[in-house]
Amino acid sequence: MIRPILIHPDPRLKKVCAPVAGVDAAVRALMADLLQTMYGAPGIGLAAPQVGVLSRVLVIDCNTGEDDEPDPVCLANPEITWSSEAAHEHEEGCLSIPEIYAMITRPDAVRVRYLDRAGREIEREFHGVQATCVQHEIDHLSGKLFIDYLSPTRRQMITGKMKKLKRERARTRTAAE
Ligand code: NI
Repeated sequence: MIRPILIHPDPRLKKVCAPVAGVDAAVRALMADLLQTMYGAPGIGLAAPQVGVLSRVLVIDCNTGEDDEPDPVCLANPEITWSSEAAHEHEEGCLSIPEIYAMITRPDAVRVRYLDRAGREIEREFHGVQATCVQHEIDHLSGKLFIDYLSPTRRQMITGKMKKLKRERARTRTAAE
């Protein structure tokens, strides 16, 4: 099921999310919805709070090339257990902050421990775009957005644009009813 994606600013995007007790049918259904919503958007990552669910669950798939096989990764209760000293600057965007992009510096590689779709405990390394993406999504679980790495002035400007976008979308919806 495709779920509506919350747009910044929204208090639910600023919350620290709760761990799941385990990967049960409800969590697997949430992971499936997150994947479907992410592919539909389209995007390369989506965290549960972005659809209003305040649980530590997220999905990524950074294989966006036309000839790439899909590579969905579902993570519950992810924890970064190691970060490389080497940093990498990458252009980031966010489905909750449409059409805004900024260069953000993060560790080039991270090791993450998490529960997968089958509830198995996995620990693996992510590199390059996947490392950027998984760190961006894990930030969402702590109520942190990529614009929080920018200057307050730039962040306020972006927030202003998003408020305007939300007003316009609300008006369009009302007009369609
Ligand atoms: Ni995001």
